[in-house]
Amino acid sequence: MKRLTIPAIRARKDDGVTTEPIVMLTAYTARQAQLLDAHCDLLLVGDSLGQVIYGLSSSVPVTLEMMINHGAAVVRGSYHAAVVVDMPFGTYEQSPEQAFANAARLLKETGCAAIKLEGGEAMAETVAFLTQRGIPVMGHVGLTPQAVNVLGGYKARGRSEAEAQKIVDDARALDAAGAFAVVIEGVVEPIAIAATKAIACPTIGIGGSAQCDGQVLVTEDMCGLFERVPRFVKRYANLAEEIETAAATYASEVRARSFPGPEQTYQPRKS
Ligand code: KIV
Ligand code: NA
Repeated sequence: MKRLTIPAIRARKDDGVTTEPIVMLTAYTARQAQLLDAHCDLLLVGDSLGQVIYGLSSSVPVTLEMMINHGAAVVRGSYHAAVVVDMPFGTYEQSPEQAFANAARLLKETGCAAIKLEGGEAMAETVAFLTQRGIPVMGHVGLTPQAVNVLGGYKARGRSEAEAQKIVDDARALDAAGAFAVVIEGVVEPIAIAATKAIACPTIGIGGSAQCDGQVLVTEDMCGLFERVPRFVKRYANLAEEIETAAATYASEVRARSFPGPEQTYQPRKS
């Protein structure tokens, strides 16, 4: 299998029609990437790793170094899906030049194919600057978690007419600036559909609509590994229960001295 390219992903939506929806999941580790790779078109090294891996209460404190380390691991663990790495808060908003310098580090030090950043019209100039200089950009509008301190929480967006119009305008601005795809997160469904119809590049929904051109979920959420999950998460497995059962069984076997057994112990060679 040859690794998918960003232009191939972009071309999935042609003249407003997407016949094969784009499949994206987050991955933070090499082993996780290996398991997800064949099933996905895109692997996202999301800054949600702040909460999911590091126990932070938001993605705001996530650093470029964290994204580089996990991004490189996911590239090493995959060979089919195109890998996209999130730019963390504070590493791109100041200027297109700041964004380019840090995005170039992500591409050079991880081997990823593209970066993702949050924000709409305000980031359009930066998206064009990066795209014109060899860095494919995925946009992210609607509920943008890095802006939690401005938004005041993680509630769905687009319920008022002004908010709804802003989301569609943001998606349009990113598309016009050359983004190859736009994540639409936590938006009332009619607005996710309107944004999908309004732009030429694919939309990737998370708490959006089945009519988006693709979908993304946080892998730990959909595998039942993370305790607090939003409405838009569907649980496809309950790994938390499996891990707890494994740990409990291991603990009782250690305490009973029944682990390790003969299969797990080395004996001297018979001479
Ligand atoms: O960080 C992340 O996991 C994301 C997705 C939820 C889109 O940005
Ligand atoms: Na993110």
